[in-house]
Amino acid sequence: MDWIENTRRSFLKGLGAAGAIAVTGNVPTLGSQASQGAGQASSIEAGMNATRARRMAWWHEAKFGMFIHWGLYSVIGQHEWAKEVEGVPFPQYEILARHFTPKPNAARDWARLARRAGQKYMVMTTKHHEGFCQWDTQLTDYCAAKQGPGRDLVREFVEAVRGEGLRVGFYYSLMDWHHPDGAKCKTDEAARKRFVEYTHGLIRELMTNYGKIDVLWYDVDWPLTAAQWESERMNEMVFALQPGIIVNNRNGLPGDFSTPEQNIEAAPEGRAWETCMTLNDSWGFNRGDDSWKTPKTIVQNLAECARGGGNYLLNIGPKPDGSIPDESVNVLESVGKWLDTNGKAIYGTERGSFDWNSNAGYSRRGNTLYIHQHYWPGHTPAAEWLSFFQPEVVIAIGGLKPKVKSARLLKTGENVAFTQDEFSLRLTGLPLQAPDEPATVIEVECDGEPAISHESMRPLWPRYKVGMS
Ligand code: GLC
Repeated sequence: MDWIENTRRSFLKGLGAAGAIAVTGNVPTLGSQASQGAGQASSIEAGMNATRARRMAWWHEAKFGMFIHWGLYSVIGQHEWAKEVEGVPFPQYEILARHFTPKPNAARDWARLARRAGQKYMVMTTKHHEGFCQWDTQLTDYCAAKQGPGRDLVREFVEAVRGEGLRVGFYYSLMDWHHPDGAKCKTDEAARKRFVEYTHGLIRELMTNYGKIDVLWYDVDWPLTAAQWESERMNEMVFALQPGIIVNNRNGLPGDFSTPEQNIEAAPEGRAWETCMTLNDSWGFNRGDDSWKTPKTIVQNLAECARGGGNYLLNIGPKPDGSIPDESVNVLESVGKWLDTNGKAIYGTERGSFDWNSNAGYSRRGNTLYIHQHYWPGHTPAAEWLSFFQPEVVIAIGGLKPKVKSARLLKTGENVAFTQDEFSLRLTGLPLQAPDEPATVIEVECDGEPAISHESMRPLWPRYKVGMS
């Protein structure tokens, strides 16, 4: 039994409870049996709901992925929207396809970097808005195999990612600036049919020709509605071919996870989410964009995603030859070093209920709290006047429940002394300098699930002097 058959069977098995899938011959067809009425999940959604926890277990554990924006726009080197922003006409833009001549197997360097950076999956633009297909498609000549690269870049990517033991993701833009029906489809039914057929056909190739694919990352569904894209049928096809896959929410349907972009905002409890973000301000290679984020910012962001139970998909924009800008390499390597020591505070962590702290982030696994101290306190002169502070380095966390059993520094393994009352946990006797960069993590074992609430303290405070004349 090959992998498709294997995973298809397990997808069907997972549907037992939903009972919404009909198998015709070898191909599961969804949609015929379940009610499509208002408020009720369609059969494809029911199937996805029933199998979601199993399909997404690795992804929740993984927490950190690499996004790669690479295409003809990389040749221009001014952001992936250059075609529109600068109004470059076709067929001028098409000429780029002949000058896109990347070095062989550039993706191997990306995959090695991703592994060193502690990223567990990689998502590459197989086709961005410019419409250029990075693989050897039968459906258009405007593709890597038949233009400058002269080969299938998606295949190289897939092999490189698997070679490093990482999970494979495909980004696919539904919006297409190049296809003659790509805009006409909005107002011309015959054009819509042709374009939807073309789109489904390209996705079918991607889901058929490269073995097991772990993530399908749709993007921009302009100018059609989900019904016009026939997005349910699209997802049915995807799951028939790749039963273990997970899909995002950008083909007009909810999919398996939400995709906040350039900001970190947890989805409502119970809903998976992934923040995608650039390392500078551009997705595609942009020669002049020097707004690089620091390793400190990236580590903080990663912790912030973990705190809300989300993932962090961090982008690189390789140059046209496939090489990665040095700034991206440096930042990702620093983050990877930090993860070598502190991975326990990120991978496999769960959503927690923690109030804000401008000096630290939090994550948790079960009853273990991880305090990510971004700004180390050092000494405070207030120690001279207030007994709360001591003439030593203290990190105090207000509003933490429940009781703490032990604390230790992840960097050195050393235990940390502490005191705790109903208001705060005070970690004492800490070194003057931060033991780790760009954040020091303190692992705190509690006797129940840790939670931090400032508000819970307010009614408890003894309030002095109120009402005194
Ligand atoms: C937006 C942009 C696009 C980028 C994507 C990544 O949709 O249009 O260029 O690929 O975000 O999330």
